[in-house]
Amino acid sequence: MCGIIAVTGGDEVLDVILDGLARLEYRGYDSAGLALTTVRDDATVVDSDLEGVAPVTLWRARAADGTRSLDHLAKQAEGASRPVRAGIGHTRWATHGRPSEGNAHPHLDCTGRIAVVHNGIIENHAELAAELTGAGHRLRSETDTEVVVHLVEAALAAGAPGLAAAVRAALARVRGAFALAVLAVDEPDLVVAARRVSPLVVGMTSSSAFLASDIPALLGRTDRFYVLDDDQLAELRPGSLVVTTLDGDPVEPVATTVEWDLDAARKDGFDDFMSKEIHEQPTAVANTLLDRVHADGHLVLDELRVGHDVLAGIDKVFVVACGSSYHAGLMAKYAMEHWARLPVEIDIASEFRYRDPVVDEGTLVVGVSQSGETVDTLQALREAKRKGARVLVVCNVVDASMTREADAVLYTRAGPEIGVAATKTHLAQITALLLLALTLAQVRGTLEDADVRLLLGDLHALPDKVGLAVDRGDDVLAVAEQVRDASAFLFLGRHVGYPVALEGALKLKELSYLRAEGFPAGELKHGPIALVEPGTVVLGVATRTGLWEKMMANVAEVRSRGATIVLVANDGDEETAGLADAVLWVPATHPLLSPVVDVVPFQLFAYALARLHGYDVDRPRNLAKVVTVE
Ligand code: G6P
Repeated sequence: MCGIIAVTGGDEVLDVILDGLARLEYRGYDSAGLALTTVRDDATVVDSDLEGVAPVTLWRARAADGTRSLDHLAKQAEGASRPVRAGIGHTRWATHGRPSEGNAHPHLDCTGRIAVVHNGIIENHAELAAELTGAGHRLRSETDTEVVVHLVEAALAAGAPGLAAAVRAALARVRGAFALAVLAVDEPDLVVAARRVSPLVVGMTSSSAFLASDIPALLGRTDRFYVLDDDQLAELRPGSLVVTTLDGDPVEPVATTVEWDLDAARKDGFDDFMSKEIHEQPTAVANTLLDRVHADGHLVLDELRVGHDVLAGIDKVFVVACGSSYHAGLMAKYAMEHWARLPVEIDIASEFRYRDPVVDEGTLVVGVSQSGETVDTLQALREAKRKGARVLVVCNVVDASMTREADAVLYTRAGPEIGVAATKTHLAQITALLLLALTLAQVRGTLEDADVRLLLGDLHALPDKVGLAVDRGDDVLAVAEQVRDASAFLFLGRHVGYPVALEGALKLKELSYLRAEGFPAGELKHGPIALVEPGTVVLGVATRTGLWEKMMANVAEVRSRGATIVLVANDGDEETAGLADAVLWVPATHPLLSPVVDVVPFQLFAYALARLHGYDVDRPRNLAKVVTVE
């Protein structure tokens, strides 16, 4: 949820921190802060303990002005002494304690000599805070994080031999999830990092060491990356990395190969990341399909790590996910059931966890997550594993927490997505799930080879069709302008069009803060139709997917009650256009693949309305890209 960046060594510590924070802003942006170990350039200040050595200070700045926090931080940082030895930075998305400067990280101990930044939740913070206060510590914030830095202070006072040992001792007292970085004046070149559940990545060069919540924050600084595992602690010094378990056992760090480049994480001339990422969707879909079909027409999902015999033995599929990833699961469920003749259940991850679901060794539980870190999905998958199920993860981030724990992984290869609302990762997820559905059908023998070949042809035609849909941004903008003053939007669809409607409504809520609901059109008469009045905008998925006639009957019902009708229709379908006030055109494709194309105009519509209302599409209010709290 929050973003962490840290660096030690090199001449550009402050630049790395500020630039890293800017790149991490999508993880949280209600406030931000940084702490640096600096050598005082004020020669008159002499500390008797540091005779002959320039005295080192710990310098901290924080700002809580939402998306302007980073500018304010950069201004304050001009006042920091030079040279800077090491630094830690944090961009926050509030959980415990409102967004404010006092609650912004880094938090300091009582002496002001130790600083900590943290992502996650310390579950036993209340009891630890009571204990620490009783022992004389002065806690100043409303956060759960602050207890950690006081625990480190206490461990050092009790004789811990150095910062790393003190952090280890502190974390032994902590329950919950954490990714954290600690800096202290007494070891000014050392950054101590540790993780449980929340992600952390280390980057190394010969003269410096970096730490961040994710790889894009460090792209261009190095190409040597190491992903920390749960319950590991890292000591970063200029050019040196030592990793141990939280219990102190040595760990040999294994480098991760990263193919993303810095350009991929920048805007490439687009106004915002979201429009860049919408335009990258044909490539995201194409890359997700790449190399996965053998010359003989068989699918080769090599990275799955489980044999075809295992997939053939599956008797039920359970998909768990949140947000847009959940909708991707819903969209693919129809193909999975139809092609592979397997029962497919799908559940919101936060519900699955707590409802004692019936899964066993014969169940394939598919976690869908662009980040691979969403805590509800991660915990749901752990629960499924405990019950004996095979766990497969569809994920966009290499070496994310979920991928490390799963039995099998199918990467979506959409590249880094910076816009908070999912677009290209969403299309890549649907594509990957369709590939999985075809693979299941192939290994179970429920589709003829000739049918599989035809479907593969349809899948490979998707990038071009998505491209055509993406290029119609101006047409969609014209429709958005027609309804820009509306305040209620109803999205309707049937069959595969139903989850497309759900995603359309979610995108509009996320980006434009407008009342938008998605419903199966057949359910209209059981309640939603009561919402319809003149002025209501109804957006329907009216592509030719089998249930078109029934869909149009539902459209007639809302039309006769005065709604403004906007329909997603296949190119050239004038019959559908004749029943709409406005049309969002898309190329036709195989009905079970159609969500990949049909959802695009809804993304563009939400984007256009948000821009018309003057909202920040990359960083919608109250939302975060990586949700590591329940
Ligand atoms: C957040 C993001 C959504 C995303 C959801 C699930 O709410 O803003 O775009 O769909 O989390 O995230 P995941 O990483 O598990 O796909």
